[in-house]
Amino acid sequence: MAAKIYTDRQDEQIIETVLKKGLRHTVPKWSVLRLAFGRSLRIESHPDESLDHREGGGSEYSLEQLTGEGKDHEEDFTPLFRALLSVRHAEDLFADNDAFVRWLQRHVRRGLREFRSSWMESHDFHNYLLHELLGNLTTPVPTVADDGERLIHALAEIGITAEVVEHQEGSRISRYYVRLRDVNDIALLTRGLDKLAFALGLGEYGIFVSPTREPRIAALDLPRPPEQWHMVPAHTLVSWLETAAPDWRMPVYLGQNVSGQGFGFDLATAPHLLIGGTTGSGKSVSLHALLLSLIRRHDPEHLKLLLIDPKHVELAPYATLPHVIEQRVLSDASDAIASLQRLVETMSEREAILASLGARDIDDPRAAHQGWARIVVVVEELADLILQSNAIEEPLVRLAQKARASGIHLVLATQRPDAQTFSGLLRSNIPSRIALSVQKGAESRIILDETGAEKLLGKGDMLVKLIGQPTVRIHGVMVSPNDIAQGIVDAKRRIL
Ligand SMILES: Nc1ncnc2c1ncn2[C@@H]1O[C@H](COP(=O)(O)OP(=O)(O)OP(=O)(O)O)[C@@H](O)[C@H]1O
Ligand SMILES: [Mg+2]
Repeated sequence: MAAKIYTDRQDEQIIETVLKKGLRHTVPKWSVLRLAFGRSLRIESHPDESLDHREGGGSEYSLEQLTGEGKDHEEDFTPLFRALLSVRHAEDLFADNDAFVRWLQRHVRRGLREFRSSWMESHDFHNYLLHELLGNLTTPVPTVADDGERLIHALAEIGITAEVVEHQEGSRISRYYVRLRDVNDIALLTRGLDKLAFALGLGEYGIFVSPTREPRIAALDLPRPPEQWHMVPAHTLVSWLETAAPDWRMPVYLGQNVSGQGFGFDLATAPHLLIGGTTGSGKSVSLHALLLSLIRRHDPEHLKLLLIDPKHVELAPYATLPHVIEQRVLSDASDAIASLQRLVETMSEREAILASLGARDIDDPRAAHQGWARIVVVVEELADLILQSNAIEEPLVRLAQKARASGIHLVLATQRPDAQTFSGLLRSNIPSRIALSVQKGAESRIILDETGAEKLLGKGDMLVKLIGQPTVRIHGVMVSPNDIAQGIVDAKRRIL
C-alpha cells in the first residue's frame, strides 16, 4: 500500500481556515501541507512522537500530493524532501521509507499546529508566512517609504517643524527618530500625541515618544496596522537564552525590543514581578515565556516551581515536570495558602541558617554548600485567589518582603490591576512590573506607577519596568500550546 500522511480533525480545520481566510482558495489543499512542512522546519527542536497518532475525523494525503512522488521528473520533489530530512534528523531516509514518512507527517502536523496557534485570522497570511519562514534570513518586510513624509506633515499640523533622521521597523511599530528645530517643541509634542495620532489616522492606538541621548532628537513609536505585525516566534527564546549575561542566575526572556533584540533580565534580581493587563492582553503567554526560559536553564535540583492557577487551565501542562512542588498545579485558595505558608517556613529556616553562617543571601559563597534550589512562585490570576480568600495576602506579603535573600521569588499576574488585588503592602514590596494593555490610564498607574499601558496594542505588547531601570516597550514572544508541550518535553529529556 502506498504510504500516506494522516491528519486529525483539528489539522483539517486549520487547513480549511488557511485556505478560506488566509489564501482565499487560490491554491490546492495539499499546498497548505507543504507550507506547514516549511514552517515546522524553522523550529529548532524535533517534532515529537505524539504527532504519529492517527485519530478520527482527519484525512489522508498521498505522497504524490505532498512531495510529488511518482510524478514527472520536474514535479517530483521526493528526493529533495528525503535529503532535507536526512540531514535534519541525521538518519538515512533514502534507506528507511517508514522513517521518512513518519518525519514528514510529524513536521506537517507540527507546522499546522503552529498556524493554528500563532496566526490570527484577521492577519494577512502571506505577511505572516513571509515573516515565519524567512524571518532572520532576509531584511524585514519593507514599508511604504513616504510614511516619514506623512509624519513630518502631521507634525507640522500640530505646529512642530522636524526632520526624520533615522527609521527602524520593529515587529509591530515603526520608530522614527525626529530632530526638532526648536527644543521648546518637545513639550508641544508630548502634549500633542493624541492629535498627532488622529492626524495620522491611527485609530485607537497611541503614539509613544521618548527622549534620546542625541541633542534635539526624540524617538516616536508609531503603531502599524495589525495586518503588518510580525509575530515573534517562540523558538527565538532558545537563541536569546544563549546570549544571557553569564552572571545572571535566572535569565528570563519575554520578547524583543523595538530594534528586534531579545529582551531579558535576571529574575533573581527582579526579585519579584507583577504582571497586569486586561483579558486577552497576553499575560498567560508572557508567563509561559518566563516558565519556558526557566525550565530550559535549570534542572529540578536548582529550581522549584510553586504553581497556582485558580482557573485551572493555563499552567496545567507543567504539572508533570519534576520541578513542580507537589507535582500539581494548585487551584484552590486554601491549598495555595497552605503551600505559601510552608514556603514562609522554608524562608525562615533558610534565614536562620544564613544568619548562623554569617552569609548575606543564597548567593553568598558561605551558603553555597547548602545546595538550596531557588523557588519561583507563579500565580496565574491573583484577583481570583484574593476573591476566594483574603488570607492569601498575608503569606504573599511576607514572602515579598523578605524572600529575596533566601532565593524565593514571586511572579503574580492579574487581569484586575486595582487597589484590592494589588494592595499597598504588595505594591511596595514588588518593585518590578510588567504592564500589558489595559483599559484605563489609572490601571496603568497601579501597575507601573505611570500611564502608558492604555495605549498599548494588546496581544503581548508590553511596558516593562524593572527595579532601577527605565520603562521599556517590548513585543512579547508568541508561545503556543505546542511550544509549551515541546518546551516541557525538551526539559524532561535534558534532565534524564
Ligand atoms: N506575544 C504575542 N504575540 C502574538 N499574539 C499574542 C501574544 N500574546 C498573546 N497573543 C494572543 O492573544 C491571545 C490571548 O493571550 P493570553 O491568553 O496570554 O491573554 P491573557 O492576558 O492571559 O488573557 P486572560 O486574562 O483572559 O487570561 C493569545 O491566545 C494570542 O492569540
Ligand atoms: Mg490568561
